[in-house]
Amino acid sequence: MLRIAIQAKGRLNEDCMALLKDAGINVAASKRKLVARATDFPIEVLYLRDDDIPQAVAMGVADVGIVGLNEVAERGEAVSEVMRLGFGGCRISLAIPRDVTYTGVEWFEGKRIATSYPNVLKHYFAEKGIHAHIHEIAGSVEIAPAVGMADAIFDIVSSGGTLVQNGLREVEQVFHSEAALIAHPSLSAEQLADLEKLKFRFSSIVESRGMKYVLMNLPAEKLDEAVALMPGMRSPTVLPLAAEGWCSLHVVIPEQELWEKVEQLKALGAEGILVLALENMIR
Ligand code: PRP
Ligand code: ZN
Repeated sequence: MLRIAIQAKGRLNEDCMALLKDAGINVAASKRKLVARATDFPIEVLYLRDDDIPQAVAMGVADVGIVGLNEVAERGEAVSEVMRLGFGGCRISLAIPRDVTYTGVEWFEGKRIATSYPNVLKHYFAEKGIHAHIHEIAGSVEIAPAVGMADAIFDIVSSGGTLVQNGLREVEQVFHSEAALIAHPSLSAEQLADLEKLKFRFSSIVESRGMKYVLMNLPAEKLDEAVALMPGMRSPTVLPLAAEGWCSLHVVIPEQELWEKVEQLKALGAEGILVLALENMIR
């Protein structure tokens, strides 16, 4: 039996719920309950504030958790990072009022900076040899410069919309974050076995996201050239076709490369190209 902590509400909650569901783990999404037991996997879900997840996992209140690496870095708790999950991408950045001239990181010398990430910022400034006044505030960090509480902020940036709305400009990207699965450093053998299962399911989902399954008919003589276009793929599936001199080729292509590869395959004479979503890729 594993107890997993996930964010009760906020930017990671929906993606976490979707990941669990895709992994065949169904839990009541009741936001009012603190704990929910899955019906089909030995797991219990604990809904917490993201800021509290690293400590809950370090203390063993939860055995594992899904949380942004930003929170893991800030809290400095003893947890192990099991795997990155490919969602919840954001950065923690320094931002200053739009109209102020920025001269480089020395600009921050002696300035007042509002943040909810004081430890990450202290570490960064120590590295750069900058002395600044760090004001820790819990929320609405982005309004601090406008109300005269600070000269700059250090906060999460995702789309950048919040900065624009508040007349701020991102000048240094300090920490790049995404959601990760973290674990208590000493789990029982039984829990480790459950964690392995969970990791296996999560990995196949994370790997298949952003991949497309592509089928096409190809002149058999072009097969070697087509296969050479797909470096890094294990040998693709090739099936003979009834029509002499033709074969059917099946490949998995990362979404970012899809159109480029499809155009190259078409140029080789591929026909009847079908692009399908890939639900799961089990290695
Ligand atoms: C963060 C941050 C900004 C916003 C930035 O808050 O504090 O307000 O996201 O996102 P954007 O660049 O897409 O506009 P979050 O929603 O994580 O809430 P929290 O600070 O209360 O955890
Ligand atoms: Zn938060």
